[in-house]
Amino acid sequence: MTTAATIQHSFLLLLLLLPFLAAHDYREALSKSILFFEGQRSGKLPPEQRQAWRKDSGIRDGFDSGVDLSGGYYDAGDNVKFGFPMAFTVTMLSWSVVEFGSNMPSDEIRNAAVAIRWGTDYLLKTISQPNRIFVQVGDPVEDHNCWERPEDMDTARTVYSVTPDNPGSDVAGETAAALAAASMVFRDIDNNYSDTLLHGAFKAFQFADTYRGAYSDDPAIKPGVCPFYCDFDGYQDELLWGAAWLRRASGKDDYLNYITTNGKILGAEDTVNEFGWDNKHAGINVLISKEFLEQGKLYSLQSYKASADSFMCTLIPESSSPHVGYTPGGLIYKPGGSNMQHVTSIAFLLLTYADYLSNSSQTFNCGGVTVGPESLRLQAKRQVDYLLGSNPKNMSYMVGYGDHGNYPQRIHHRGSSLPSVSDHPEHIRCKEGSPYFNSSEPNRNVLVGAVVGGPGKDDVYEDDRADFRKSEPTTYINAPLVGVLAYFAANSGAGADATLAKHTNYIK
Ligand SMILES: *[C@@H]1O[C@H](CO)[C@@H](O)[C@H](O)[C@H]1NC(C)=O
Ligand SMILES: *[C@@H]1O[C@H](CO)[C@@H](O)[C@H](O)[C@H]1NC(C)=O
Ligand SMILES: *[C@@H]1O[C@H](CO)[C@@H](O)[C@H](O)[C@H]1NC(C)=O
Ligand SMILES: *[C@@H]1O[C@H](CO)[C@@H](O)[C@H](O)[C@H]1NC(C)=O
Repeated sequence: MTTAATIQHSFLLLLLLLPFLAAHDYREALSKSILFFEGQRSGKLPPEQRQAWRKDSGIRDGFDSGVDLSGGYYDAGDNVKFGFPMAFTVTMLSWSVVEFGSNMPSDEIRNAAVAIRWGTDYLLKTISQPNRIFVQVGDPVEDHNCWERPEDMDTARTVYSVTPDNPGSDVAGETAAALAAASMVFRDIDNNYSDTLLHGAFKAFQFADTYRGAYSDDPAIKPGVCPFYCDFDGYQDELLWGAAWLRRASGKDDYLNYITTNGKILGAEDTVNEFGWDNKHAGINVLISKEFLEQGKLYSLQSYKASADSFMCTLIPESSSPHVGYTPGGLIYKPGGSNMQHVTSIAFLLLTYADYLSNSSQTFNCGGVTVGPESLRLQAKRQVDYLLGSNPKNMSYMVGYGDHGNYPQRIHHRGSSLPSVSDHPEHIRCKEGSPYFNSSEPNRNVLVGAVVGGPGKDDVYEDDRADFRKSEPTTYINAPLVGVLAYFAANSGAGADATLAKHTNYIK
């Protein structure tokens, strides 16, 4: 090839890459993705509260049942504290720090630890009584019937709990996972707190495993959690997930034995191509694969690694496996609403698996195509870049981030859309919020860092407050994104772009 042809070739390549090279400020996005959690806080807020338009709320939660259940997080744009997705959120925030904390600046590690602790302080309250775990505060039907600020809440703060007679291995197992993962985050920050968390994790797991069942099978709990956070896919995955985190956090062989002995019984081979607040399978396989990859001799774990490989193959366009769906603009798309939860959790698994492979110098095979860490990272980068604005609408799906304010203005979020208590101290009753809900005006308060459910399968986003499937943020969209942004904030220099160019060239 002549020099001229090479130059021309590189120039063409550059043109092809232009849409991907839009510079994103991952560092800024990382900071905002963590800040978001302050807007979701329930309970008494500290003086350092940065989303200053939010005030104290739900400070008497649990008191009528004789227990302090103040604190924790609202899951999304409403004012209910759903324990199942809250625990998953804490697990994923913690996993973000455990895996990518070394990529985070120290101030953001501190902010992330504060966000985790806001969740774990609450989770510790939920397991404070023997043989009972509190799984939710707030009647969702009453709550959803109002458009009301958390600070004004006057709907029933019903307390739901699981016991040996009405077990909930799903929430209990996820709580064990969250406390175990968080114990790893606090090991170097506050050793005593870390011990408290790990002790709580053992206790929650024992309860989950001893008294088996799905929380939403209980007639008293079902109307409070279904159809919002019903346990649709069974509690078995949370038992494996809880055990996997306890193994990672404590190193105890009991949990390794639990995983190898119970894997088949608990359906380790079930729908493995999912990862979210209900179905943990893809996450379990990636997490457990770490140990197999690093110490190949643990053959009892081989099937988890094989499942993780086959999940990754569904995300590699060049492979011949059946693939996950994409929008025409390249965003991973799964039907059912709040699509960004899949995008961020899958991007997280891609990067995590890439690190596990790198650390053990391994690749794997997808029907004849050899896949290594760089292909996985490229797929993750495409997803996060789309989320931040490299998409057909040039729109950032993170509130408060992006050029020219081109981000969602009318998110489905009560506190954000209603005026702050600072500006409007008078109580706004249940139905008095309706004009704000119906208004076509932008929200009054910018919930900085909130990532919404995102565009439909055609890349279209209308910015409509009523369309909660697209315009509602959730804590479990952001939690894995924290780790993803930490990775790219530390690895997006010239080297990363060169890697991208090389890879694109190779595919071509
Ligand atoms: C250790 O943690 C426990 C429970 O959180 C707390 O009661 C105790 O005061 C702590 N001890 C120290 C020395 O910080
Ligand atoms: C890499 O693998 C080794 C074992 O081979 C392990 O000790 C180490 O902690 C791993 N590093 C990371 C960053 O996971
Ligand atoms: C997005 O940005 C590109 C490059 O600046 C521009 O060519 C395109 O028209 C924009 N699309 C929309 C929908 O604004
Ligand atoms: C929105 O306004 C319409 C009337 O314009 C009303 O019928 C409806 O109840 C309102 N919706 C809400 C949630 O307030």
